[in-house]
Amino acid sequence: MTKNTLAAALAATIAVIVPTWVRADDAPVTTQIVDALNKRFGVHPGYRANHAKGIVVEGSFTASSEAATLSKSPLFTGAKLPITVRFSDAGGMPDLHDAAPAANPHGMAIKFHLPSGGESDIVVNSLKFFPVATPEDFRDLQLAAASSLPGSPKSAQLDAFLASHPSVEKANATLGTPDSFADEQYYGVNAFVFINKAGQKQSFRYIIAPERVVHLSQAEAAKQSPNYLMDDLPVRLAKRPVTFHIKAQLAAAGDSTKDPTQAWPDDRKVVDLGVLTIDKTVADSAAAQKKLLFLPGRLTDGIEPSDDPLIAARDGSYAVSFGRRSANP
Ligand code: HEM
Repeated sequence: MTKNTLAAALAATIAVIVPTWVRADDAPVTTQIVDALNKRFGVHPGYRANHAKGIVVEGSFTASSEAATLSKSPLFTGAKLPITVRFSDAGGMPDLHDAAPAANPHGMAIKFHLPSGGESDIVVNSLKFFPVATPEDFRDLQLAAASSLPGSPKSAQLDAFLASHPSVEKANATLGTPDSFADEQYYGVNAFVFINKAGQKQSFRYIIAPERVVHLSQAEAAKQSPNYLMDDLPVRLAKRPVTFHIKAQLAAAGDSTKDPTQAWPDDRKVVDLGVLTIDKTVADSAAAQKKLLFLPGRLTDGIEPSDDPLIAARDGSYAVSFGRRSANP
């Protein structure tokens, strides 16, 4: 064996033995993020690096007439579009207790099936605004959290990160534990831009509003069974459909579109874009969710990403996570 082939063989062996997250890192930040999530939550083959525990349901979306004045998107023609929705707990642990503080923020991912055969996604969560504003800070938050054992005092690394990023604890303070995925309000956090038929642009953030919000007290949350959120939805849907309104909070001049840690003032106009109706469970949710990939940047004509750097970083890291979970089913 030549020196070079020996070096190559050694490198290949090390790559197999050493988990990816301890690699000296010149990988793209999107890969570093998934490595950091894996370090924090562990590697669970076949599961998402984040929002690992979830349930898939189905329904439809019908846009309001006002939606079409804001955007020429095929989402907003008024036609009834089939949708696939995945609700989830936060974090990369597939066996998390649904009422655990670590299960917050809860997630909702919506896939619209367009008449053209294409797809478009909205991926939202129950945080009113995001803890960090850059992909690098998201990675470093995961690494800082990974340095603290759950239930133990915070590590010096986590303390330092929280002290230098006050938006983390401010954002987390907006969270509650819902009694059902149906009784939670979800936020897009990242800004997008509508373009209408006249070419006018309007920046906005999604809000997915339920019929009502119901948050549990700590005492009530402590009484819930480990899968209470996953178990609740099929029982509800057997009785009647669950509905949400998809809304857009419109930015005013001067509102930052690139900083998701900054909520826009509450008096900004909110437009009702239409009604989302969930009325079906799927036969094998566990199998269905493995095949699904939701991307916040999978948009249609008439909707563009803003200058928020998280959108592209999310698309990239979701794809890395999807690649890994599909390779190790
Ligand atoms: C830099 C910022 C972020 C990064 C790097 C990130 C990373 C990830 C990753 C790697 C996954 C797993 C994807 C998969 O395997 O399919 C994921 C899932 C998810 N994320 Fe994020 N995330 C970020 C911000 C956000 C924000 C701002 C929201 C909501 C407003 C959000 C909501 C979700 C939801 C709901 C899922 C589950 C999607 C599904 O059901 O397939 N994330 N995230």
